[in-house]
Amino acid sequence: MPKELRIAIAGAGQMGAAHADAYRACNLRVVAVADSNPERAGQLAAAHGAWACRSTEEALRQGVDALSICLPHSLHFEAAMAAVGQGVALLIEKPHCITLAESRALRARCAERGVPAMAGFTHRFLATSRRLKAEIGSGRLGRVGLAIDHLVANGLGPAAPEWYGERALAGGGIAMIGMIHSIDRLRWLLAAEIESVQALVQPPVSERGVEDTALVLLQFSNGAQASLVAHRSPVVGHPRSHRYELFGERLNAYCSVGSFALQELHLAGAGVDERVTVTDDAPFVAEIREFSSALAEGRVPSPSLDEAEIALGAVLAIYESARLRRPILLREFLEQEAALERSGNVVSPPATLSPRTSAAPATGTVSTRAVRNPN
Ligand SMILES: NC(=O)c1ccc[n+]([C@@H]2O[C@H](COP(=O)([O-])OP(=O)(O)OC[C@H]3O[C@@H](n4cnc5c(N)ncnc54)[C@H](O)[C@@H]3O)[C@@H](O)[C@H]2O)c1
Repeated sequence: MPKELRIAIAGAGQMGAAHADAYRACNLRVVAVADSNPERAGQLAAAHGAWACRSTEEALRQGVDALSICLPHSLHFEAAMAAVGQGVALLIEKPHCITLAESRALRARCAERGVPAMAGFTHRFLATSRRLKAEIGSGRLGRVGLAIDHLVANGLGPAAPEWYGERALAGGGIAMIGMIHSIDRLRWLLAAEIESVQALVQPPVSERGVEDTALVLLQFSNGAQASLVAHRSPVVGHPRSHRYELFGERLNAYCSVGSFALQELHLAGAGVDERVTVTDDAPFVAEIREFSSALAEGRVPSPSLDEAEIALGAVLAIYESARLRRPILLREFLEQEAALERSGNVVSPPATLSPRTSAAPATGTVSTRAVRNPN
C-alpha cells in the first residue's frame, strides 16, 4: 500500500485555510501548521488535528512529505529552500518568488535534489478555465487573435493583510498578486509565449508602496494580442469583478470569474449561443488533486516552477516597462536578468520559454485581521 502523505502548511491565513480544506477533501493528512501568529496556527491546526508551530523549520521537523507555502511573498523563497533541502515536495502559492534570481536558485535546487514543485495558479483549475481550454484545444473557437482581461479587486483597507501594501513583502501590487493569474491563464489558454510587454502602472513603481492599477498590453508568439487591466478600487461595497473575453475566428468566449462560487462562460458565434453557469466549483481541490497525483505518479506537477518563472518575469517586465516607458521584449529581459546574475557569480539556467513545459527575504509584521478576497 502506498505510504500516506504527511503535509505541512506554512501560513495559516486565508490561503493556508483553503489549502488545508482542500487536502482534507482529497483525504490527505495535514500534520503541521506553521504561522508566526500562534493563534492562527493553533486554530487551523486544531481544525485539522494537526500540530501547531511558529516556523516552517519546526513544521519540517515533523517529518513531512510535502509543504504548502501560503506566506507573504517575500518569505516564499526561504521556506521553499528549507523544504527542498530536506527533499520535501512543494506547492507554492503564486507568485512563487519575488525575484528571478530567487526563482532560478530555487529551480536549480529542486532539479539538483529531484524535488517536485508546483506553483499555485488556481485559476487554471477553475471549471470555466478548463472548459475553455478544451474548447480552444478542439479548435472550436478557431485562431484566437485578441484577449481582453479585466479585474477590479477590493482596495487595500482594514480587511486586507497589511503586507499586501508593502513592496518589500509583496514584491508588487495588483499586477504581482492578481494580474499574474490572468497572465498565466492566458499563456496556458493560448498555448503561446509572451513576446513583449507594455505597461502603465499607478502609483508609479517605488521602493515602498505598490501599484493599485496596471494597464498592460501583451504580444504573443502566435500573433495573438491581449489587453489587461487590473485595479484595486477604494470604493466601499463594490462587487469584486473579474471578466475576460477571447475573440476567435469562429467563436467568441466571454467569461466571468469574479467569484469562484459563481462563474459564467458564454460562447457566441454564428448559430452558437451557449451559456455555462458554475456554482459548485472546488478549484483548490482540483489543484491539490493534481499536486498529489503528480507526487504519486513521480512526475512534475503542473504548473511547474518553469512556468511560474515566466509569469513572474512578465510581471517584473510590467514594472520595467512602466519605469522606462517603453515595451519590453520578455525573452531579452529574462536573458539580461540572468546575465546580470551571472556577473554576480550566481549561476542558474533561464526558464524554458515554452508553454508546454510542464536577496534576502524581508521580514515584517503581518495583520491578523480578517480578509476579503483581494486578488
Ligand atoms: N490562489 C489564489 O487564488 C490566491 C488567493 C489569495 C492569495 N493567494 C496567495 O496566497 C499567499 C498567502 O496570501 P494570503 O492572502 O493567505 O495571506 P494572509 O496574510 O491571509 O496569510 C499569510 C499568513 O502568513 C503568516 N506569516 C507571516 N510571516 C510569517 C512567518 N515569518 N512565518 C510563518 N508565518 C508567517 C501570517 O501570520 C498569515 O497568517 C500569497 O502568495 C498570495 O498571493 C492566492
